[in-house]
Amino acid sequence: MDNKELLEKCKKVLSDNYSGEYTMPAPNFYPHQWLWDSCFTAIGLANYDLDRAKKEILSLLRGQWGNGMIPNMIFTDHAEHKQDRDMWKSWRSPYAPDDQKTSGITQPPMLAEAIVRIGKKLEPEARRQWYLDTFPALLAYHEWLYRERDPHEEGLVLLIHPWESGLDNTPPWMHELHMHQTPWWASGFQKLHLDRLVNLFRRDTKHSPPGQRISNMDALLYYNVIRRLRRKNWDIEGILNKSDFAVQDLTFNCILIRAHSHLKTISKTIGHEIPQWLHERVHKGREHINEKLWDPYTGQFYSRNFVTHKLIKEPSIATFMPLYAGCIEPERAKILVKMLKNNKDYWGKYPVPSVPFSSHAFRELGYWQGPTWVNTNWLIIDGLKRYDMTEEARELSEHTLSLVKNHGPSEYFSAHSGKPAGAENFSWTAALTIDLLNNKD
Ligand code: GLC
Repeated sequence: MDNKELLEKCKKVLSDNYSGEYTMPAPNFYPHQWLWDSCFTAIGLANYDLDRAKKEILSLLRGQWGNGMIPNMIFTDHAEHKQDRDMWKSWRSPYAPDDQKTSGITQPPMLAEAIVRIGKKLEPEARRQWYLDTFPALLAYHEWLYRERDPHEEGLVLLIHPWESGLDNTPPWMHELHMHQTPWWASGFQKLHLDRLVNLFRRDTKHSPPGQRISNMDALLYYNVIRRLRRKNWDIEGILNKSDFAVQDLTFNCILIRAHSHLKTISKTIGHEIPQWLHERVHKGREHINEKLWDPYTGQFYSRNFVTHKLIKEPSIATFMPLYAGCIEPERAKILVKMLKNNKDYWGKYPVPSVPFSSHAFRELGYWQGPTWVNTNWLIIDGLKRYDMTEEARELSEHTLSLVKNHGPSEYFSAHSGKPAGAENFSWTAALTIDLLNNKD
């Protein structure tokens, strides 16, 4: 397959996955609208269909809550997916929208990146209008993140469910999840082998071979977190008073720092102000990533437990995200790239695995516990370019394109063999492949 055929194939995936309103990540597997999936999809669409790219983003904003939160999922109203909608009971929050059913948590804030990537392709007048249309929602979202999720004003926002990180079951999150007591009813389920019943409610295990996804027990623990959150009616004070399951996630905060620089670009173009406190908070966040989330002993970055302030020293792909944030000194960037290019950890035949080969937690096809994903590669490629590591960026882009060319636009891939896994014809893989093809060289 040559690049032209690859491009056409990826465009076809995005057109097949279109619901008429938004792009489903993969129709059978993931029928709802997801926050960062739609942003990645819009970034791909911006290369050839600006109207649809804008529509993708505006459709995401339908789900915004009255307090500014943008949920990770907006549910389709198909009758067969009632169970997904009802599980969250997000209507218990006074801020949830009346006319949309959504989850009660968020996801990595890729929104500003998508808005600016679309904006850059528009003529100046249309760009200004696009920014005027989206700025209020974007600003409200960023303000919500720091207001609600950074209660100690550290410049690092906290997450309350693994799904908010987008890298759901990466080792740092599983470590935190397992530190908490298993509720009695979940242990009871396990003892009686009833955890298998959970499969009745899971879509992922219907489409993926067992062993590639989280265990039923872990699925119950995820569900238990949701149960605790909804019991507090999605009110953050109540949630934090009652629970210490809160993580200052590295990837999320790096994406947010980058998003703030996009917010500044937008505000300058339209002449609207960003409140000073928000700039100050982001400034603090940049410092804290460098000082508090860096571990000099292992020479890498980690997420941190919000309550104990302990680094969660489980190595993962998140360590490269400060490149994308652009908030580290070139010397540190060099250390990261040396680690990236080490074939014992990350640089196999198809880089970049979500977890290093040398980690005790590495599983070749275990969802976010080893496979290579195109969205994280895209973030790293962008970060390498920011640090003028153009050769490394080009190399990783070539590896990524050959992965998709040889194995199809799947959800994730073995970093050793390229074997595709998860959903076939996955939207963000297709969209970001389109973007990489358009930005080659
Ligand atoms: C899974 C992924 C998440 C993604 C979602 C929809 O939950 O972990 O990152 O947004 O699926 O594709």
